[in-house]
Amino acid sequence: MRGIVLAGGSGTRLHPITQAVSKQLLPVYDKPMIYYPLSVLMLAGIRDVLVISTPTDLPNFRRLLGNGTQYGLRLSYAEQPSPNGLAEAFLIGADFVGTDDVALILGDNIFHGQDFARRLQREVSTLDGCTLFGYPVKDPQRYGVGEVDGEGRLVSIEEKPARPKSNRAITGLYFYDNQVVEIARGLRPSPRGELEITDVNLAYLRQGRAKLLDLGRGFAWLDTGTHDSLLEAAQYVQVIEHRTGVRIACLEEVALRMGYIDPDQCLALGRKLAKSGYGEYVVTLARNAGATG
Ligand code: G1P
Repeated sequence: MRGIVLAGGSGTRLHPITQAVSKQLLPVYDKPMIYYPLSVLMLAGIRDVLVISTPTDLPNFRRLLGNGTQYGLRLSYAEQPSPNGLAEAFLIGADFVGTDDVALILGDNIFHGQDFARRLQREVSTLDGCTLFGYPVKDPQRYGVGEVDGEGRLVSIEEKPARPKSNRAITGLYFYDNQVVEIARGLRPSPRGELEITDVNLAYLRQGRAKLLDLGRGFAWLDTGTHDSLLEAAQYVQVIEHRTGVRIACLEEVALRMGYIDPDQCLALGRKLAKSGYGEYVVTLARNAGATG
């Protein structure tokens, strides 16, 4: 499976913060926002990743993440010149996807919870059509909303409904088989002029091949769309990291745990950042894993 991180958009709800900086490069406590979604793809076992952003912001993502080999990844980059909707990612990324399955994750979505890697990997290996991830929220009208019947089957999906049929938001992580490219090619822009991801999901729903997996209330799916939610996300990360001593979405750590890099490579990465607490953490991890340098 291949992965796409969509990090476009103009972040207007965060202005003036995002007037000169891409939203997905803003800090969420101790690391840039895009680390969080990128770590999710890595935990799913995905190593080929396309980062899509605006022509202005793309060079900064490249500067931050390079070609990905330092994390044992193959990263590539593509431009989305105007915000034509999330589903445009599959048109921009069609060559990158090729004949593979693909995971799309939104560059501003933060996921954190027990057993996530194993759940992701299970979905990747059993994918049939599409898998969506649901999460209970108190303001479902701000999201795509899914409704399930008595047997737990997904029966409807609506984008930002005024009267939501459930409190189950569809999060910004989507697993699709290769048919998604063809489905995206056949989409028409919605009334707001965008190629909607919800229309892609509806196409799978009509085929009876859309699955909604509940992340459940013991899990954290955090929003970063407003000044308050961005700060709250940072505070969540800070609280968990201080309490446990374990960092969330540390790419070096994920790469090491997944076996994408060895302890010595991890040590070299940590040393480059050693003046920050983040770097010290990576150095310690590498040493504990047996780095000899
Ligand atoms: C998008 C999707 C929506 C989804 C949300 C998750 O909305 O259209 O279905 O629930 O991402 O973050 P946006 O945040 O682009 O308004």
